[in-house]
Amino acid sequence: MKDFQPRAILLRDYRAPDYWIDKTDLHFSLAEEATDVTAELMLRRNAEAAAGAPLVLHGQDMELIEVAVDGRPLAPREYQLTDELLTLPQVPAQFKLTCKTRLKPAQNTSLEGLYKSHSMYCTQCEAEGFRKITYYLDRPDVMSEFTTTIDADRSRYPVLLSNGNLVDRGEGDGGRHWVRWHDPFKKPAYLFALVAGDLCALDDTFTTRSGREVTLRIFVEAKDLDKCDHAMASLKNAMAWDEKVYGREYDLDIFMIVAVDDFNMGAMENKGLNIFNTSCVLAKPETTTDAGFQRVEAVVAHEYFHNWSGNRVTCRDWFQLSLKEGFTVFRDAEFSADMGSPTVKRVEDVSLLRTLQFAEDAGPMSHPVQPASFIEISNFYTLTIYEKGAEVVRMLRNLLGAAQFRRGSDLYFERHDGQAVTIDDFVKAMEDASGRDLGQFKRWYSQAGTPVLEVDGVYDAGREEFTLTVSQSCPPTPDSETKLAFHIPLAVGLVGEAGPLALRLRGSDSGTGEADQGSCVLELTKPQQTFVFEGVAEKPVPSLLRGFSAPVKLHYDYSRDDLMRLMSRDSDGFCRWDASQQLGVAVIGDLIDRYGKTGELHREPADPRLLSAHRELLDDDSLDRAMVALMLRLPTEAYLSELADTVDVEAIHAARQHLRKALALALAEQWERVYHGNCSDEAYRADAGAIARRSLKNTALGYLALREDDNSLELCRTQFEQADNMTDVLAALACLVNGTSAAATAASTAALAAFYQRWQHEPLVVNQWLSVQAGCVAPGGLARVKALLQHPGFDIKNPNKVRALIGTFCNQNAINFHLKSGAGYRFLADQIIVLNRLNPQIAARMTTPLTKWQKYDPQRQILMKSELERILIEPDLSKDVYEVVSKSLR
Ligand code: PHE
Ligand code: ZN
Repeated sequence: MKDFQPRAILLRDYRAPDYWIDKTDLHFSLAEEATDVTAELMLRRNAEAAAGAPLVLHGQDMELIEVAVDGRPLAPREYQLTDELLTLPQVPAQFKLTCKTRLKPAQNTSLEGLYKSHSMYCTQCEAEGFRKITYYLDRPDVMSEFTTTIDADRSRYPVLLSNGNLVDRGEGDGGRHWVRWHDPFKKPAYLFALVAGDLCALDDTFTTRSGREVTLRIFVEAKDLDKCDHAMASLKNAMAWDEKVYGREYDLDIFMIVAVDDFNMGAMENKGLNIFNTSCVLAKPETTTDAGFQRVEAVVAHEYFHNWSGNRVTCRDWFQLSLKEGFTVFRDAEFSADMGSPTVKRVEDVSLLRTLQFAEDAGPMSHPVQPASFIEISNFYTLTIYEKGAEVVRMLRNLLGAAQFRRGSDLYFERHDGQAVTIDDFVKAMEDASGRDLGQFKRWYSQAGTPVLEVDGVYDAGREEFTLTVSQSCPPTPDSETKLAFHIPLAVGLVGEAGPLALRLRGSDSGTGEADQGSCVLELTKPQQTFVFEGVAEKPVPSLLRGFSAPVKLHYDYSRDDLMRLMSRDSDGFCRWDASQQLGVAVIGDLIDRYGKTGELHREPADPRLLSAHRELLDDDSLDRAMVALMLRLPTEAYLSELADTVDVEAIHAARQHLRKALALALAEQWERVYHGNCSDEAYRADAGAIARRSLKNTALGYLALREDDNSLELCRTQFEQADNMTDVLAALACLVNGTSAAATAASTAALAAFYQRWQHEPLVVNQWLSVQAGCVAPGGLARVKALLQHPGFDIKNPNKVRALIGTFCNQNAINFHLKSGAGYRFLADQIIVLNRLNPQIAARMTTPLTKWQKYDPQRQILMKSELERILIEPDLSKDVYEVVSKSLR
């Protein structure tokens, strides 16, 4: 157990800093044993600070060599040094502070601060990593002009990079060289970056709409130079899109991206020098799946968009994290929608939100989009901050309309350029630009939890009226027991026998803005409200929460026939998909109940309506393939678990598998036809149409494989051997790996060996190989994963590998992870204990599955809790893990 309780930091304790740092001049002398850093800081007392205010600097995990004020070295009695702070009790109102520190980057496995990834040096400073480089006011409201000089061995580190523009370079003694970078834009320390290595670059240019030419450069290891084209194309598309949609131009002469293998997150928006996890930048058809291509496009855009939403206008403190992340995720989602299929993008995002963010918000780590307190900020890079934060911005856009929203964003960027601001400032700009009162709306930022809408619809045939009654509530969360009503935009339509009906809402002149498209937005502001639609000539089925207009759970008592009508007749793509999900949930629900009663499902028939709905989707060639592929996806086990009060691991798995088998057999002919009809000999392309085609084809292959006959096995094997792209190869491999017949097992063993043999030198491909095996639902999963921990293709120090093997197993293979014996939990806790010492951020993230103990049966609860308790008594428990574990046990 920790001998002290780490202290929580509170939003309400925010105080402006006592000192500003106008200029930051850094000198790095890079060497394997130790890297020496000299920082010269031009400090100035904040006019609002007390005259004698001490200077308190953050710093950790480094050796302090010397500290000097205006050139005079201080004696040890002139300052106080602790594990986390350097205090100078007496300093002038304005002065130069020189600080020399010594770092050991090769031993830094936390991947925060300065560290080595293979042969390359790189930094990661968000959120509080700069304090591992030098003593500093490491907080985002302290913005400074940075100059960085890097001195290193020339042959091993020919490429030396930092933020801004290259202003000088020269040769040194003993085979060394140096470069100097200057960033003209003031920035907080979390946006600082440095890279040194033997790197190759893909170069290109972009001409901004005002005619400036910007150099674009993606740095990678030589072997990856053939995997940069997609990222480069994505970057140029993102730059053009931000000019067109937000009026935002790039501001430096050069924009650089560097790919590194060892990285805790997806990527980092350092000013002018984005650092990327290789998984979010490298892509080529032979090694990368469609999902991988889309992720690269989205992350490249996301980091680029941060140049305005995050860098030019940054956060005052870390409680405002969603100011940059929620807004930027919203921006990248709209970008991806414009580049590909908007409905597919929306459905994928909503799936993620409803499955994982809703679960987070219902669990012990639930927090508002603007949290009020944290122990370790790294734990708050969450689905709530990112995805729910983006949904809140989306609601604003929908409430204000595109034009006023754009006016609001223009005002925000203009008013706050160069400042570190708050979520309130953002909302204020939206209010000022639109004239709307967003007071109640702001509760989305301060209240945690997922609101629940209970909706009731009554049709009065005589009066031709349809009445919707909507009540809202929100369950208690750790931050608050009771909630005030939210301001919720509820987009609705009415669907008749033949399709959407025209809307006339009582009490509003035209119905609403978009009435002609049969859609309107009801604004909910009270616990209960009633809306009456007039002139409704037939009994409608309401289409609710169109486009997922708010991040809520909505309950409406649809019959299965209602859902079938929405699936085939609704004009809203999201609602059509959602109806297919609700039907799937209901049908699987029947099977879960049955399994609960009898412990088996052997001969149990599945609701024929679902079979015929799927048959219709497969038979109708006029439908959009992307839509069909989405609607054929059954709700995942994770989503079904989120919906359940108590997760019945075995029943959910058995029921879903049973339904898959039933669909495989009942629609055998359709799957075969769709499979062959969507095989194409065209060269691989990553556009929406081709992606939908492959998605549909591989869905069909998945069902064919369930037949476990020679023909289908042969189909999988042939696709595995002959496909020219990783999407198809991996889909076939997954089928083989999850097969249960003796023939499938033999084929799987051979395929896995061949795959590793071919791709062992491509870490990202090996990760997919780890992940397919970790996700295999056949019995014996834990033993397989334990064996893979010892495989040379695994490395616990690499976060991508940890996520691929341990993460996939514990988050996506419930039937094997949630063993009744608790062995899966013990395994995970053992890994967390190892990771806690190596990489606390990753250790804390991996803890998530155990924190959900309250969702399971009493025996499992005991087993999960006892593993959490075992972690909690670890000596040297990091703040990161301590926060997650202690909050989930309280
Ligand atoms: N700011 C990064 C992003 O979302 C995420 C990140 C956070 C990366 C912390 C590294 C460390 O774009
Ligand atoms: Zn971001």
